[in-house]
Amino acid sequence: MNRIPAELAPAQLREQESLLLEKEGRYCSHGDTVHYAESPKLFDRCSGSYLYDLQGTEYLDLQMWYSAVNLGYGNAAVTEALSAQMARLPQLACQYLHREKIELAEMICESVERGFGMKGRVHFNVGGAQAIEDALKLVRKATGRQRMLAFQGGYHGRTLGASAITSSFRYREAFGEFADRAEFLPFPYVFRSRFAGDAQRTEDWCIEEFARLFEHEYTGAWNPKTGRAEFGAFFVEAIQGTGGYIVPPKNYFRRLAALCREHGILLVDDEIQMGFHRTGRMWAMEHFDVQPDIIVFGKALTNGMNPLSGIWAREDLISPAVFGPGSTHSTFSSNTLGTAAGLAVMRILADGGYENEVGRKGEYFLAKLRQLQASHREIGDVGGLGLALRLEMCEKDGMRPSRALADRMFQIGLQGDLAIDGRKMGLVLDIGGYYKNVVTLAPSLRITTAEIDLAVRALDQVLARAKESLGWR
Ligand SMILES: Cc1ncc(COP(=O)(O)O)c(C=O)c1O
Repeated sequence: MNRIPAELAPAQLREQESLLLEKEGRYCSHGDTVHYAESPKLFDRCSGSYLYDLQGTEYLDLQMWYSAVNLGYGNAAVTEALSAQMARLPQLACQYLHREKIELAEMICESVERGFGMKGRVHFNVGGAQAIEDALKLVRKATGRQRMLAFQGGYHGRTLGASAITSSFRYREAFGEFADRAEFLPFPYVFRSRFAGDAQRTEDWCIEEFARLFEHEYTGAWNPKTGRAEFGAFFVEAIQGTGGYIVPPKNYFRRLAALCREHGILLVDDEIQMGFHRTGRMWAMEHFDVQPDIIVFGKALTNGMNPLSGIWAREDLISPAVFGPGSTHSTFSSNTLGTAAGLAVMRILADGGYENEVGRKGEYFLAKLRQLQASHREIGDVGGLGLALRLEMCEKDGMRPSRALADRMFQIGLQGDLAIDGRKMGLVLDIGGYYKNVVTLAPSLRITTAEIDLAVRALDQVLARAKESLGWR
């Protein structure tokens, strides 16, 4: 086995890197998302808002592990909590109790009570898609129904159950039998709606599309005689994540929730990507003045350390009488290191003034992105909420989606050869959106103003080079 010694000459480091990549090509499955990239990237260290490659080049990370590392890489308080847990109780089978699990569940319940005024309980799992599966079980148990509603452009994970309510057929195509596929309804994507930028008409149309399901019995959605809908729940993201950081109009969810209530359909709020203050509020749905029945969380709960996910549900849906022992289980659920990290994160968020800070930084960043848009007509749309921001890359008309341009930006960022005030650096971006043309920005919530300025200059350079490489003038 080759180990990389700390001090190696650049040529040796390049040689090591080639060797590692060659081995990856031979020994690692390509079934994950690494090989979406033209040339997979290898990183060696991380700190704050930065990743470092083997050569020590710094990359400003504007995606923070798909919003799993909201509090910055190597966050000292989280690391300290993990070290203390390592020293005291690093391992424990999840059939036994430990302090951190209980206190973390309490803090999450309290935050839901503060945000939505409801009481409930928490159930932990390991990954986001697993927690989605638990939410599906809970809905099926509580309603006796197994069909779900979800959004076009929605993403809920890639296990068999989660894929069935995720809108992309590509994720299901090769894999045979799934749970019942959700009915996918349009999300109010104002920029690309048929009403071209008119938020109110887009909202109205999306609500009408939902309401139409209950117009008569032949929509296949309900029995008008009994009033019973075929759907157990509507799985929603308050702000679509993988779908391209799309923020719906302010009143949309209130109207959607009213229709759900009217037809006995539960509202499941997937906060896996947008929770934990990514949008300024602890839960993104708090911006929209509705009460979800179930909340699903994961990712940033542990700031990207030991994985932990879970669901919160209203007491009557998850009380022990309904969701009894053994209803679901996974060996690593509520693992002690994950719960310790989660507790540290929740304490930081409770103390940190993030509510105001994220909003303020988000507005500053957004204003800078609007300036950038003014000098690049290929940026068709900028927007977002808090520090979940979007740049929609288009053809020169500023409208037709350009996946090629977004792809080029992604690749150029990872080359690590941007030059800004004599500083050699790279940029870590992620691309999402219905047309894979949206640069979705999820920087550290602790990003500084200087780093935002740097980010915008780097984006400017990446975009200029991307256009040049496509031969665009
Ligand atoms: C909104 C949302 N739900 C569910 C998931 C799935 O989570 P995981 O990848 O941890 O299984 C993701 C992951 O990106 C997500 O963004």
